[in-house]
Amino acid sequence: MESKDRLIRNIRNKEATVGVVGLGYVGLPFAVEKAKVGFRVIGIENNPIRAAKVNRGENYIQDVRDEELRELVSKGLLVADTGFDRVPEMDVIVICVPTPLTKNLTPDLQYVEKVTREIAARLRPGQLISLESTTYPGTTEEVMLPILESSGLKVERDF
Ligand SMILES: NC(=O)c1ccc[n+]([C@@H]2O[C@H](COP(=O)([O-])OP(=O)(O)OC[C@H]3O[C@@H](n4cnc5c(N)ncnc54)[C@H](O)[C@@H]3O)[C@@H](O)[C@H]2O)c1
Repeated sequence: MESKDRLIRNIRNKEATVGVVGLGYVGLPFAVEKAKVGFRVIGIENNPIRAAKVNRGENYIQDVRDEELRELVSKGLLVADTGFDRVPEMDVIVICVPTPLTKNLTPDLQYVEKVTREIAARLRPGQLISLESTTYPGTTEEVMLPILESSGLKVERDF
């Protein structure tokens, strides 16, 4: 079976592992919702205080219900890490890092570029990468794609 077909099957069966990069106002509720419907979720959060809180089941975002987070963590459905070592385990990777506006009112893509480089260094065939951060059209093709393809893997064919 082709890696793309396997990915689609694993998403349908909820057997896919979902990675969420940046567990803030967007990423943590997203991670919780995916774990609630049965996906195994691995969060990557570079703030060690936040990552440790998640792993203790302690919520820090208004949109998340404390008891829901606690239960998902205790069941092992949601875990947080501060680094990118577990990227190869992830079938789907959703990027939710900040894109603050620069003084010229364009999104500052330094966080997106940094995490894209981290992912590219560990990319494997069959992964789906999604950018949730607010930015301008063309960011995935013009900024992220060259970084991801520097891994030697090819979009559509491999990821
Ligand atoms: N908050 C909203 O309601 C909202 C709505 C729509 C879109 N957005 C967009 O979503 C994106 C994320 O926004 P947010 O409000 O969740 O931001 P946030 O600051 O609440 O969360 C971002 C998280 O990413 C983490 N992070 C930063 N660099 C990282 C790295 N290198 N590796 C791992 N984690 C890292 C931060 O520590 C933080 O916890 C932004 O582009 C924002 O514009 C936000």
